[in-house]
Amino acid sequence: MEAFFTKAIEVRDLVKIYGGGVKALRGLSLSVEEGSIHAILGPNGAGKTTLIRILTTQLVPTSGSASIFGLDVVKRASEVRKLIGYVPQEVSLWTDLTGYENLLIYAKIYGIPPERRKDIVEEVLSMMELKEASNRLVKTYSGGMFRRLEIACALMAKPRLMILDEPTIGLDPSARKTVWEKILEYKKEYKTTVFFATHYMDEAEKYAGEVSLIVSGNVIETAPPDELRKKAGGDRVYLKLDKSIDGARDLLMKVEGLKIVRESGEEIEMIVNGALTVLPTIILALQSNGLQIKEIRIREATLDDAFIALTGKRIAEEEGNIRELISERKMIRRGA
Ligand SMILES: Nc1ncnc2c1ncn2[C@@H]1O[C@H](COP(=O)(O)OP(=O)(O)OP(=O)(O)O)[C@@H](O)[C@H]1O
Ligand SMILES: [Mg+2]
Repeated sequence: MEAFFTKAIEVRDLVKIYGGGVKALRGLSLSVEEGSIHAILGPNGAGKTTLIRILTTQLVPTSGSASIFGLDVVKRASEVRKLIGYVPQEVSLWTDLTGYENLLIYAKIYGIPPERRKDIVEEVLSMMELKEASNRLVKTYSGGMFRRLEIACALMAKPRLMILDEPTIGLDPSARKTVWEKILEYKKEYKTTVFFATHYMDEAEKYAGEVSLIVSGNVIETAPPDELRKKAGGDRVYLKLDKSIDGARDLLMKVEGLKIVRESGEEIEMIVNGALTVLPTIILALQSNGLQIKEIRIREATLDDAFIALTGKRIAEEEGNIRELISERKMIRRGA
């Protein structure tokens, strides 16, 4: 049966080929329920920002379609813009102005009537806990305050859909947490749909109801984080023995649901289904073959593991590029 309710976002077979011939999106499809929090997770260059630029009507797709609450983003761009609040990946503030002045400019851009601007600016400032800092120049803000101010700008028009491109990139863990608390408070109050792009697995895992994994311009899987983690294939187990694992390999290979992912010298890493139940048997078997365990670590599969299992790639591999993005944001902020 066709879905009865309009989706917050509906993307079908979206293709974007840039001028130079770069195929950034290769037939990408996804849909986002109204009221949900949906993350797109993927390495550098996967096409996240390109998708977001199309959804926010800044770019026109080469082919395929995208709609926001049933409105086509190309044909009905000006109506779409009124429904979304957008926090871009790039810096979007004037650093030589105060927080208050920045918000006033955005209030004007969003077409908020002059007599209401002051109230709305005050409201979003206190919502993002920036009231005290509002008369300071933005270039003196911390990374977290800076990002919260950018989010405040996007919220002034009370959007039905919030689109955030890397909302916490480059922030320390406590600033990241505060940014998310503020987003969630706002969402709770206004029942906003939240769509965000991220490199950070833990944020997708913690805050998103559904996660779409994006690689090379395609969605390869969409599911709630828990389901994605299950696709990683089982618990991760690390063992260090008192001698070379050569004597243990045959024995381990016989264990059902056990897969060796790396081994060298006395160390071995495995994926084991239901590790806590199976491990005692493995340990006993190793000991009866004269092998002692010097170290053992077990952890549940993470989204990162699922990503590797499904794509063969690791998001963290692109760390270098993330650092570039971060320092770029810092440089602009300091006015360099
Ligand atoms: N304006 C442009 N002109 C040409 N190619 C572009 C342009 N913008 C992006 N690209 C290319 O399109 C691909 C997708 O880029 P995009 O910025 O959408 O990825 P992303 O997933 O947001 O990456 P990141 O995680 O680094 O933000 C990349 O290969 C990128 O180099
Ligand atoms: Mg991007």
